[in-house]
Amino acid sequence: MSKDSITDRFDRQARDLRISVTDRCNFRCRYCMPADVFGPDYQFVPREDILSFEEIERLVRIAVPMGIRKIRLTGGEPLLRRGIVQLVRSLSTVEGIEDLAVTTNGTRLGRNAEDLRAAGLDRVTVSLDALDPDVFARMNGVGATAGRIVEGIRKALAAGLGVKVNTVVQRGVNEGEILPLVRLGRELGVTVRFIEFMDVGETNRWEMNQVVPAREVRERIEAEFPLEPVARSYRGEVAQRFRFRDGGGEGGVIASGTEPFCRDCTRLRVSAEGKLFTCLFARQGHDLLGLLRSGESDDAIRNALAGIWRDRDDRYSEIRGQDSHPKPEMSYLGG
Ligand code: GTP
Ligand code: 5AD
Ligand code: SF4
Ligand code: SF4
Repeated sequence: MSKDSITDRFDRQARDLRISVTDRCNFRCRYCMPADVFGPDYQFVPREDILSFEEIERLVRIAVPMGIRKIRLTGGEPLLRRGIVQLVRSLSTVEGIEDLAVTTNGTRLGRNAEDLRAAGLDRVTVSLDALDPDVFARMNGVGATAGRIVEGIRKALAAGLGVKVNTVVQRGVNEGEILPLVRLGRELGVTVRFIEFMDVGETNRWEMNQVVPAREVRERIEAEFPLEPVARSYRGEVAQRFRFRDGGGEGGVIASGTEPFCRDCTRLRVSAEGKLFTCLFARQGHDLLGLLRSGESDDAIRNALAGIWRDRDDRYSEIRGQDSHPKPEMSYLGG
């Protein structure tokens, strides 16, 4: 354990800071921002309440001495935030950050990949739920096609970015896309990870019978491509990884519901309006924006963050159902 790390009530260290840079998105994925809820009148966070780039950079510098080593920029769709390349450039100079990544839906990746890489970004994680045009259009809610996303992935690879693909699997919607996406991953040399549909937020009409257990996803893949497990590469890795026995690369499943990984959860999340959440399912956030704008010193803010982390006892996915408070939306909090 490094000397600067702090631990929560379950002896988990804070390692991974996920910062949402906008709560807006150009997709309306049904499992995340259903169009009937996130319509033209939906009240997104007002501009003046969004963390500025200076505030984000300051936050990251404050967080490193607490043990934070990974930064992930999320959304909404982070590449919609104007000047995102500039933010990446400033964060990439922060000493102590070992991994700087962006989670994106890929629609603006093609045009940004080279600039992001040149600015010091290490990796992108691209959400892609289907290749079939009808299935994908139905899932993303705006009629987008997968071709442009795949093109973005190719550009990211060519620019030298690490790339992973995340696919949320919903029963009756895109199980048929699992094998085509696996084949795409093998062709591109990219890890595709299949995620169980989660009961995040209050708007996605989650139902247990729409969850395809990770074990079943793995069996479907195994029926075509023999697999062997790969040991996880760090404590807190959410994916169960596997390797294709024929040497065709790697894949993974994220069993958030059926095999929760709370005991190793090292993640802190910050919403676009600067609220700090210690769990994806937390009832409410802590007012970090207020702290950053209060005139407090970096040390005082770091102490406040450390106190919040030490107090933390979240393990929602392990105790699900015993807590019925309203949960924040993933588009607000970051994926
Ligand atoms: P790598 O750094 O590439 O290993 O990524 P990661 O393991 O941090 O995963 P990523 O950010 O790509 O998250 C993938 C998905 O896993 C998210 O979109 C969520 O659906 C789920 N997930 C990630 N973190 C958590 C978490 O803390 N709790 C729960 N329940 N699910 C999570
Ligand atoms: N269940 C699982 N993952 C989700 N995401 C958003 N909503 C859900 C949900 N209900 C994740 C997906 C997506 C990322 C941006 O957020 O991984 O790729
Ligand atoms: Fe946008 Fe990602 Fe949510 Fe889809 S899952 S609506 S792409 S933030
Ligand atoms: Fe961490 Fe909460 Fe997810 Fe559990 S449910 S892994 S505590 S964010």
